[in-house]
Amino acid sequence: MTRVLLISGSPSATSRTGRLLDHVAELLDGAVSLLHLRDLPAEPLLLGRGDHPDLVAAARSVAEADVIVLATPIYKAAYTGLVKAFLDGLPQKAFAGKTVVPIATGGTQGHLLAVDYALRPVLSVLGARHVTRGLFVLDTQITPLAEELRPRLRALADEVNAVPLRAVA
Ligand SMILES: Cc1cc2nc3c(=O)[nH]c(=O)nc-3n(C[C@H](O)[C@H](O)[C@H](O)COP(=O)(O)O)c2cc1C
Repeated sequence: MTRVLLISGSPSATSRTGRLLDHVAELLDGAVSLLHLRDLPAEPLLLGRGDHPDLVAAARSVAEADVIVLATPIYKAAYTGLVKAFLDGLPQKAFAGKTVVPIATGGTQGHLLAVDYALRPVLSVLGARHVTRGLFVLDTQITPLAEELRPRLRALADEVNAVPLRAVA
């Protein structure tokens, strides 16, 4: 069974990005787990103290996943600082051998391409084997979920469900 880790990079307690990931999770077949970066301890995260038990556990979840679905709100035309702090703390090639699905939510279509110009290069540096086509969703489309989004989420889930299990070394 494919192991899928869904990561939400929103600092918000009422996150629409998190809601969107809940919808994605419902469509996935594999062993799915959800990591809200806002739940990680802020000080160790920001100061790069990766030996904190919660950060060790989060890094292990990344290491064990076949597929990472990384969802971030767009803040100031890029991913959030929370996402950056988390990714900075991961090992150099933390996404090696994995499929990564980038998702962004935003307030304006003007930043539709942020997934490609901001997020994609970082995922590549982390060694992702395959970064799928990204998904950008307007915040107004999430609660309630816009009907036109459903086929796009279904297509994304089908792609994730088709990822083969990685051979464990
Ligand atoms: C500090 C801040 C900066 C933002 N900057 C942008 C932006 O540059 N472009 C954009 O499209 N939306 C921007 N937004 C809107 C959020 O990306 C959007 O509402 C998102 O869906 C919020 O997700 P969340 O509810 O999971 O936190 C910004 C929101 C905040 C709070």
